[in-house]
Amino acid sequence: MQTPFSDLGAVVLAAGKGTRMHSQHPKVLKTLLGEPMLHYVLQALTPLVPSPESGPIPVWSVIGFGMERVRRAFNRGETQFIEQPEQLGTGHALAAAWRELSRKSFKRLLVVNGDTPLIESAVLGDFVAAAIEQNAAVAFMTITPPDPGAFGRVVRNNGEVRAIIEAKEYAEAEYGPSSGEINAGIYCLDTAILDELLPLLNNKNKSGEYYITDLVGLAVARNLTVLGFEAGSNMNLLGINSPVELIAAEEILRKRIVRDWLEKGVLIHAPDAARIGPAVILEPGAELTGPVELYGTSRIASGAVVDSHCRLQDTEVEADTAIRSFSHLEGASIGENCVVGPFARLRPGARLEAGAHAGSFVEIKKSRLGQNAKANHLTYLGDADIGANVNIGAGVITCNYDGVNKHPTTIGKNAFIGSNCSLVAPVTIGDNALVGAGSVITHTVGADELALGRARQTVMPLPERHRRKKK
Ligand code: UD1
Ligand code: CA
Repeated sequence: MQTPFSDLGAVVLAAGKGTRMHSQHPKVLKTLLGEPMLHYVLQALTPLVPSPESGPIPVWSVIGFGMERVRRAFNRGETQFIEQPEQLGTGHALAAAWRELSRKSFKRLLVVNGDTPLIESAVLGDFVAAAIEQNAAVAFMTITPPDPGAFGRVVRNNGEVRAIIEAKEYAEAEYGPSSGEINAGIYCLDTAILDELLPLLNNKNKSGEYYITDLVGLAVARNLTVLGFEAGSNMNLLGINSPVELIAAEEILRKRIVRDWLEKGVLIHAPDAARIGPAVILEPGAELTGPVELYGTSRIASGAVVDSHCRLQDTEVEADTAIRSFSHLEGASIGENCVVGPFARLRPGARLEAGAHAGSFVEIKKSRLGQNAKANHLTYLGDADIGANVNIGAGVITCNYDGVNKHPTTIGKNAFIGSNCSLVAPVTIGDNALVGAGSVITHTVGADELALGRARQTVMPLPERHRRKKK
């Protein structure tokens, strides 16, 4: 997008508790497909660039309720923060922002409610462009949904905006029947008016809050240019206030993402039950055979198959690898031609090199399985480095934790670890070594050595008292 947005700053109102969510968490941290609501709003603002050479416009988020949690969730410079310790309304939130931003020389502020995650950059760009073109003192986006619900009503007179009246304040006797046009909660304000108009906001209304929407009536009264930018019935602009609305928005987003990937050549067999996060990357030719959840920065390469009921978070899967049903992968990286699951659990730092297998009921944490290494059944590998072609028998456990510290296990290439061994870390097993089944290994096993660490079997006649009567 190359609209000239110089002298534009953006403010996201994100301090509210979201009372209607009935939750102890700040509303803007509620997730859609694994990403917090606020993430989507910030993403939509990112493509707004002042000029082709410059970066995105600067963005501040007003935070209040649960502010530490919001700061922690967005600590990679996605936004700067302004605090509104008491949440006295959207107008009060803007005033808090303006106290910090008035020293900067923005000509306009784009103000966006933080609970509008489905908003798209293109619409925002058109809106800002129109506000600039008409040199509006106050511009805001409007929509006309089938049900105006509790949203602010736009009052017009012969097409000219007069005011935004909040639903609970709306009196038909005074304003006439509502047209159904509502305020979307997205504003573009000429900063020249803020010093004068912000102090005029008051909280003498049914909510006892300072309403940002009152700026419209105040501007009209001063004959300033006010633009109500009509975005039709664009449901993507509806704010989210309740769990019902959150899930409805998530479903719109989910369908949008699944359809995009299908169109790009990803084979999604259960499109109604695939949940794919917005930052996930799927290569054409990847295949999802049933209900799956793919979140975060997961990436599935061409030819890889993810079977039903798998959940992948921040996990990379290379070409021609199979992730079998009911596997749970987080922060893992899986090479080409691997097999994972069914029922595998790969935790952060699990790395499988090409051709490796991690089979059923295998848990791997912070460990590398080298090329063609196999741990096919019932195993825990933690803090382990396992060389190429190693075979890990059923029931092998790396005892990596002594109750205080974690310790590493190293297994050289071509080693064979028999079933049901406990490898008590720190411990090293050399190349080509063989560890007998049932061993408890506490000391180094050198290359090409055989280690047996278990009580020797003894055999003797069965004592009389244990004998069973012959029938
Ligand atoms: C607001 C608008 C309404 C519009 C609707 C669109 C007002 C008074 N009303 O209503 O006209 O139709 O959005 O979705 O603005 N917030 C703060 N600090 C506060 C209060 C709120 O930062 O003190 C933030 C919230 O976190 C939220 C946003 O502002 O992200 C909007 O607040 P909310 O209470 O959801 O406003 P609505 O009642 O939905
Ligand atoms: Ca809202």
